[in-house]
Amino acid sequence: MTELRLSHTAELGRATLKAARALLAKVFEGDFTDHDWEHALGGMHAVVWDGDELIGHASVVQRRLLHGARALRAGYVEGVGVRADRRREGHGAAMMAALERVVRGAYDLGALGSTDEAMPFYAGRGWKLWQGPCSALTPNGITRTAEDCIYVFESELALDLYGELTCDWRDGDVW
Ligand SMILES: CC(C)(COP(=O)(O)OP(=O)(O)OC[C@H]1O[C@@H](n2cnc3c(N)ncnc32)[C@H](O)[C@@H]1OP(=O)(O)O)[C@@H](O)C(=O)NCCC(=O)NCCS
Repeated sequence: MTELRLSHTAELGRATLKAARALLAKVFEGDFTDHDWEHALGGMHAVVWDGDELIGHASVVQRRLLHGARALRAGYVEGVGVRADRRREGHGAAMMAALERVVRGAYDLGALGSTDEAMPFYAGRGWKLWQGPCSALTPNGITRTAEDCIYVFESELALDLYGELTCDWRDGDVW
């Protein structure tokens, strides 16, 4: 029996945080940095347990995205991964459904940077691929970034998918 739980970082507890980080390190095959982990903290986590084994993790954290002269409150999805031997069982979809409810209820829009592999997964859930230029608000001003895999989700705002989207600053990968 699997169980999906939704909790804030503050409520997860050390053991679960450790298990989630270990899971993501395996899922991303060593290409998961300290910054990547830090980016996934400070918001709501959807985790899937099978007994005492953690088999899925995804989280949503708040970021500011500049678009059309506005600073939008974005629910930014991070650290999405399902253990390799438990994929295509619906766990990724269940975690995203939980986080999308958070996005709808708390943010102007959802956003995320996808891996190539996961693009059909997000597109199939109604996330829209950003078509315009992306940039970051760096300590040296707005700097163009080379992203072509940014997805956005359900906004009541009139987003121009071909316009510019600028993310706030952080260490590690800015998107
Ligand atoms: C992306 C990922 C989280 C999906 O998790 P999952 O539990 O396998 O996803 P689900 O079983 O809920 O899939 C739901 C639907 O998404 C689509 N989908 C999922 N993975 C897909 C893939 N690799 N290719 C194409 N479509 C995919 C399918 O339509 C699937 O429905 P179906 O199985 O009935 O055809 C998982 O493949 C993963 O951990 N990948 C490696 C890490 C990664 O790339 N994470 C994304 C970071 S942005």
